[in-house]
Amino acid sequence: MELTITRPDDWHLHLRDGAAMAAILAATARRFARAIVMPNLKPPVTTVPQADAYRQRILAALPRGADFEPLMTLYLTDRTPASEIEAAARSGFVKAVKYYPAGATTNSENGVTDWRHVRAPLAAMERLRLPLLLHGEVTDPAVDVFDRERVFVERHLVPLRRDFPELRIVLEHVTTAEAVDFVRAAGPGVAATITAHHLLWNRNAIFQGGLRPHAYCLPVLKRERHRAALLAAATGDEPQFFLGTDSAPHARAAKESDCGCAGIYTAHAAIELYAEAFAAAGALERLEAFASHRGADFYRLPRNRGTITLQRQPWTVPATLPFGDQVLVPMRAGETVAFRLAPDHAATT
Ligand code: NCD
Ligand code: ZN
Repeated sequence: MELTITRPDDWHLHLRDGAAMAAILAATARRFARAIVMPNLKPPVTTVPQADAYRQRILAALPRGADFEPLMTLYLTDRTPASEIEAAARSGFVKAVKYYPAGATTNSENGVTDWRHVRAPLAAMERLRLPLLLHGEVTDPAVDVFDRERVFVERHLVPLRRDFPELRIVLEHVTTAEAVDFVRAAGPGVAATITAHHLLWNRNAIFQGGLRPHAYCLPVLKRERHRAALLAAATGDEPQFFLGTDSAPHARAAKESDCGCAGIYTAHAAIELYAEAFAAAGALERLEAFASHRGADFYRLPRNRGTITLQRQPWTVPATLPFGDQVLVPMRAGETVAFRLAPDHAATT
């Protein structure tokens, strides 16, 4: 069985930097024509010149002949001036601004501590139609870790929509039925990305026969009811749900630790894993809209012209993959993935 679809885009991706980036970039470029690249480097990408320099490093690290366009983001901080937003909108290569609540996840210590500090840049984004990408979790330690997204929607997203009704928003890596419901009700200015791992796994994966650090990410995996809601949204016909892998590589040692990092690496098999989730739901014919059409439409970019072909043919994922001078453990390490990219024309343009 073969499935040919318009070449997809990844609307939420962590590429890291330096030798680590060089080791993983080709996997994404083979599958996706474009990706929204997260700015949570150390130090974070907070200015247009920094985004430009990061973009140049990505382009320089691409394999020869690769056809891949990195779409850059700025990291919003308490000190981001409206003038930086204006420069971003003028740049042509900065496509969005990323909001991390300070302390919510990997490299978020420079994130926003209070919405009151970012009213001027948010107003500029609203005016210039530059999307705000949300890591939608509260950091309040009194809130249960499994409830942090739901409480974010109530406490932060509802007031944000009220104060900036024209602001274009992507709620990134949604994990709950409540987030799906909010996005569904909000109308065309609000969208959501959904990861492959949240479509394939529920929170049992974290505890399958023992503690599984490679199934730990943020927002953390949720119970089955939520996975079912995500799958229904992804395979449904609403335009505001689209593909964002949140592939977030960490070295094996940083995951297999007494305080393991959050993040699951899926770039080695990203579109194949989504195909599995869609096939299991009997909805493979919906994959193209989710993976290749809706994100481009939301970002007001042209859809891609090339295609990729997927074959239903199982292959075994290596136990580890190179990651700079270390290794990482990819999703499904040592296990099979049911789909693979057709080798000859992995990507045609
Ligand atoms: C991401 C990372 O490692 O950069 N981790 C993750 O679990 N998703 C950060 C993020 O997107 O929260
Ligand atoms: Zn992420």
